[in-house]
Amino acid sequence: MEKKKFYITTPIYYPSGKFHIGTAYTTVFADTLKRYKTLRGYETYFLTGLDEHGQKIENIAKEKGMSPQEYVDQMAEMAASLWKRMDIQYDDLIRTTEERHTKVVQKIFDHFMESGDIYKGTYEGLYCIPCETYFTETQLVDGKCPDCGREVKPMKEEAYFFNMKKYADKLLKAYEELDFITPAFRKTEMINNFLKPGLEDLCVSRTSFNWGIPVKKDPKHVVYVWLDALTNYLTALGYLSEDDSLFQKYWPADVQIVGKDIARFHLIYWPIFLMALGLPLPKKILVHNWIMMKDGKMSKSKGNVVYPELLIDRYGLDATRYFLLREVPIMQDGVFSPEGFVERYNSDLCNDLGNLLNRTVAMVNKYFGGIVPQNVGQVNEVDKEFEQTTIETLRKVEKEIEDLEIASSLADIWTVISRTNKYIDETAPWTLAKEEQTEKLQSVMYHLIENLRKIGTVLLPFMEKTAWNLLKQIGQSKEQSWESIYLYESMAENTKVIEKGEPLFMRLKAEEEIEYIKEGMKHK
Ligand code: MSP
Repeated sequence: MEKKKFYITTPIYYPSGKFHIGTAYTTVFADTLKRYKTLRGYETYFLTGLDEHGQKIENIAKEKGMSPQEYVDQMAEMAASLWKRMDIQYDDLIRTTEERHTKVVQKIFDHFMESGDIYKGTYEGLYCIPCETYFTETQLVDGKCPDCGREVKPMKEEAYFFNMKKYADKLLKAYEELDFITPAFRKTEMINNFLKPGLEDLCVSRTSFNWGIPVKKDPKHVVYVWLDALTNYLTALGYLSEDDSLFQKYWPADVQIVGKDIARFHLIYWPIFLMALGLPLPKKILVHNWIMMKDGKMSKSKGNVVYPELLIDRYGLDATRYFLLREVPIMQDGVFSPEGFVERYNSDLCNDLGNLLNRTVAMVNKYFGGIVPQNVGQVNEVDKEFEQTTIETLRKVEKEIEDLEIASSLADIWTVISRTNKYIDETAPWTLAKEEQTEKLQSVMYHLIENLRKIGTVLLPFMEKTAWNLLKQIGQSKEQSWESIYLYESMAENTKVIEKGEPLFMRLKAEEEIEYIKEGMKHK
């Protein structure tokens, strides 16, 4: 039987500076879903990439005395090495300056010119150069760019437009019929803010800068950044190229992840481009909120930018991934603070998870010479309830991951961890040992190890190294199947736990570490 397939994408990032934890967040999120689906037996394809054209990149390169190509090449190395450092298992990283992309964008543009979807006009508006966006008077905030707060300039140029209006009704119908936007309130937002007031046509070419893909039939124009950028999700699969087998296999995408600031482009223009190409829409577009700082957005001028390396180098990749995934619920912004990071590390990772493993392994060594007892049934008063709540909570975890509620799924994995810690207190194994209630003691040890195995298995997509470290300490080095988390079966006979395990996470001295992170935020 053919395997089920799963195609997931992140936005392609502007290589306008080093990536901070906000950019890393989207990528780690996608990576976790890819790993989860792979674990569930899907054939997966995970695409990320770089959005390398546009005036801003041209300007930055000039400031650095480089050609735009030299600059983006350097940034592409930065991106690849960061993703390697973060163990991101992407299948492809597309760069919009690659020929496989530019050629197809030109074809798509030509096609839209021929089909009449693109027409020539004049663009007039208030332009924000760093954001490469025109705004109308009413969109400005205090007369400045609503996105970055900088000055905007009135500008006018000959330009090509995409006839968005033509597709407005069709888009509304797609919104009604296909449930492709998560969370649903984003759809309402689009309808109220952009569709009801009347959809504007989108300017899709520029003559005011050169760093872009030339329009084949009118080369003084370059393709404006959103038509160039959005199509990456197709070109990376070989759409309209000699070999489009990946495209045939993986389109439509299963999940496309985007931040709230680029929701408009992905929920309005992207589906319309696809409709105009006669292609099916993605099955899900997930719009997530942002990681904020206590004093608002991260910005270099405020000196509050956190780069992932600051955290990874000192606290490890898994702690960093855990924090990002746990702290940003999809519907609200999450907050990064050094205090919050250290608290999560010490309390969730070190105390709740790390100590559960250590205590359990120590007891199995002490009471059973390191051998995990077989399942003797539900012999303690609490066993039945314990098994039931664990399984119920794990089912919830699975549903949350499927619903892309990653922060909630992690919170519920920690519910299982806490419940397992509580089971130790409830059954008081030290008393059972003293009273020589061997069967009951066996049951407790079996249940603890089995719950740790379940916890290790569900943690695999989130923090692989830690999950394997845990699993190996309880004598599990073979591949774990997701489905097995719902069963309480005996382990292989003579499964042996490690004699002396190394702690998963070392306790941090809170004040020192908070200072360390604060300093690191200032210097980089
Ligand atoms: N190049 C465009 C996307 C084109 S996709 C066809 C772009 N690039 S970006 O580098 O500015 O942003 C990329 C992603 O990072 C966006 O989804 C954005 O929301 C996300 N984030 C940027 N800062 C963020 C936080 N502070 N928190 C979470 N996500 C953040 O837009």
